[in-house]
Amino acid sequence: MASNRENFGSRTTAVLAMAGSAIGLGNIWRFPYMVGQNGGAAFIIVYLLCAVMLCIPIFIAESIIGKRTQQSTFSAMDKLAPGTSWKWIGLLTVFTPLIILSYYSVVGGWSIEYLIKSLTFSFTDPAVSRDAHSAIFGSFITSTWKPLILHTLFMAINAVVVIAGVRKGIEKFTKITTPVLFLLVVLIMIYSLTLPGAGAGIEYMVKPDFSKLTGAAMLSAMGQSFFSLSLGVGCILTYASYLKKNENLMATGLYTSVFDVLFAIIAGFAIMPAVFAAGIEPGAGPGLIFETLPFIFSTMGASAPMISNIVAIIFFVTILFAALTSSVSMLETGVAWLVDEKKMSRAKATMILFGGCWALGVLCSLSYGPLADFHIFGATIFDLCDHMTSDFLMTFGSLLFVLFVGWKMKKADVKDEFTNGGSLKGNTRIFNVVYFFIRFIAPVVIVVIFATNLLEKLHLL
Ligand code: PHE
Repeated sequence: MASNRENFGSRTTAVLAMAGSAIGLGNIWRFPYMVGQNGGAAFIIVYLLCAVMLCIPIFIAESIIGKRTQQSTFSAMDKLAPGTSWKWIGLLTVFTPLIILSYYSVVGGWSIEYLIKSLTFSFTDPAVSRDAHSAIFGSFITSTWKPLILHTLFMAINAVVVIAGVRKGIEKFTKITTPVLFLLVVLIMIYSLTLPGAGAGIEYMVKPDFSKLTGAAMLSAMGQSFFSLSLGVGCILTYASYLKKNENLMATGLYTSVFDVLFAIIAGFAIMPAVFAAGIEPGAGPGLIFETLPFIFSTMGASAPMISNIVAIIFFVTILFAALTSSVSMLETGVAWLVDEKKMSRAKATMILFGGCWALGVLCSLSYGPLADFHIFGATIFDLCDHMTSDFLMTFGSLLFVLFVGWKMKKADVKDEFTNGGSLKGNTRIFNVVYFFIRFIAPVVIVVIFATNLLEKLHLL
């Protein structure tokens, strides 16, 4: 029932929870290696353009659906367009975050391993070469049991937070971790920028090479912007359903997006200069931060082993917090659906989804070890889950959300929700611009980028 549904306590906690969902491994782990694989500054420019032109409108569109209905995705779509097929987007967006969660949790497990390593002072020996650090990472992820146990642990922490519920669990959790996180990454950035040889990394981040900007790179930049803001999968919709009725959606959308983008850029400036300072290949892929930073921490340790280890601990705690506040929102999206729609208890819903995600996560984890040669469409299970979600399902989900709000909902209802019945004067003034972006700009840009990539794949461009 909408009337006794939980709410976030205040604007600040709502924004922090949304920012907590948005800021995660996407910013710290995925963004730097995507920048490295797709040519640096030119990728960042497309990512920034997508954030402004697409992400803010999509964010607002999802929030409008969630706040208006105070329901999770499936029931929300059904309530706004009863008896139509739109409710199936609801279902699509329930399953996409669960697929993401399964491989995300594997990387979450990797972060726990590196936190343990830093807590046991493993990064203080400057004699360990960069290649040796890569080998240590390689042998860890290709082993069978340790990554599986840590993946299970990571999933279990999520289940505990989600069972505790919105106020006691998610809100309390993110209120503390998100600001701490921000501070920590700024600290690490300052440290990284002072490393000898950091200049080349800074140049890589700011000097665009547009020849690297293929259709695939543009799709990756768009996918990365959706991934980073948790869009097109119903997470923002679900969190918006917990907002108070008088909340200002433009403000929450803007704060969260700016915060998230800023975080990614800061994380980029924290990682890339360090990558270049160590002479590491920026396109190293998913292992980038796990291979680069231990080497940096160790060499740093030559003159100040204690400081270097404290930085390492701070860094891996940061990553773990970031991952948890995001993964909790993925699980919550599915749980909210089972609670709203199937009238299940939170605990039962959580346990069922825990089981499903855990099992898929096991396959993702093993795809670095015993299942490394098992390929579907030419990709390992881990890579398939990653690319299928960020390049296709999230993009598709985002497109459907803006089409729904822009073309299916009544304009008067959209305006009513965006302006809180006309009481928000600023929002009333900018409504037409925002509506234009939701209705035309976002769908057109998504389709153009998607089509460019497709034509390129078919060798027609
Ligand atoms: N935005 C999160 C991150 O940057 C990932 C995420 C994707 C969270 C989809 C929820 C839904 O890490």
